[in-house]
Amino acid sequence: MDTKTPLRVQRIHDAALGVKLFDLVHVDECALTPFEAGAHIELQLPNHVLRSYSLLNAPGEQHRYQIAVHNSPDSKGGSRYMHESLQEGDVLLSSLPRNNFLLDESAEYSCLIAGGIGITPLLSMARRLNALGQRWELHYCARTGAHAAFADEVRALAAASGNAAYFYFDQEPGGQALDLAGLCRRVPGNAHLYCCGPKGMLDAFEQATEHCRDRAHVEYFTAKSEAALDGGFTVELARSGTTLHVPAGRSILDVVFDAGVSVPSSCREGICGTCETRILAGEADHRDALLSDAEKLANKSMMICCSGAKSKVLVLDL
Ligand code: FES
Repeated sequence: MDTKTPLRVQRIHDAALGVKLFDLVHVDECALTPFEAGAHIELQLPNHVLRSYSLLNAPGEQHRYQIAVHNSPDSKGGSRYMHESLQEGDVLLSSLPRNNFLLDESAEYSCLIAGGIGITPLLSMARRLNALGQRWELHYCARTGAHAAFADEVRALAAASGNAAYFYFDQEPGGQALDLAGLCRRVPGNAHLYCCGPKGMLDAFEQATEHCRDRAHVEYFTAKSEAALDGGFTVELARSGTTLHVPAGRSILDVVFDAGVSVPSSCREGICGTCETRILAGEADHRDALLSDAEKLANKSMMICCSGAKSKVLVLDL
């Protein structure tokens, strides 16, 4: 992690079944670094786990960061710690806000699509769009109403601005699932679409928006593709003048780290962007969830935690 900000857990609150809301403030109660809608912070948890969480409060607020965490049954230590061990008053180290899920504030119309805890960055976007007076609609999928955190806030934001919010609780009697493909065909032709939720939903969204890639935005919480771990290539670190062999089963980040070169990293699965590294020569085998198809083709940078090489040699700006 780069610059670290010590944050105190000011308040923990139940937001829905299995979802807790955390209010985080600077330990010295001073103003926090401003953030934009869609941004996230990386928290260093006391159990040595690093996790990224989207900020859900209104961009412009500097007295607190608000995050929400779903207690995932597949937790590898992050969400379980946040739910079971973290207490009000505890201090966590945070990165500065980063944004891989930028809101196009000039868009005349925005369509926000959330699955479960994926509502968090979209809530911040809806707040921002209201502040800008822009038109939007929000579609929120959850198992039941009791699982849908911030549903009342979403309804209130829609009511206050004359925009529309739709809910899909597919495990409630009579509940129905969102027709994602139909929705993506139906929205106005100039709309920007944003989707955050589980991987299956994001994959379906990407398929449904193939015709409008330049207006479709996604945020993955988990890896999009398997990491490239076939190895068998060489990495030259241009700045340090080091040449390293990447064997099968190891990431470039692992090999570079073992060689004593420090590269900031967090998620290690291609979703946070922390390890993005400039490519000076060679062709990457991109496996991250952040770069667009055009950026992957341009081959200017790569996430070295999960991406490998298609060429025998990669020269990196390290
Ligand atoms: S560490 Fe998160 S993208 Fe590489």
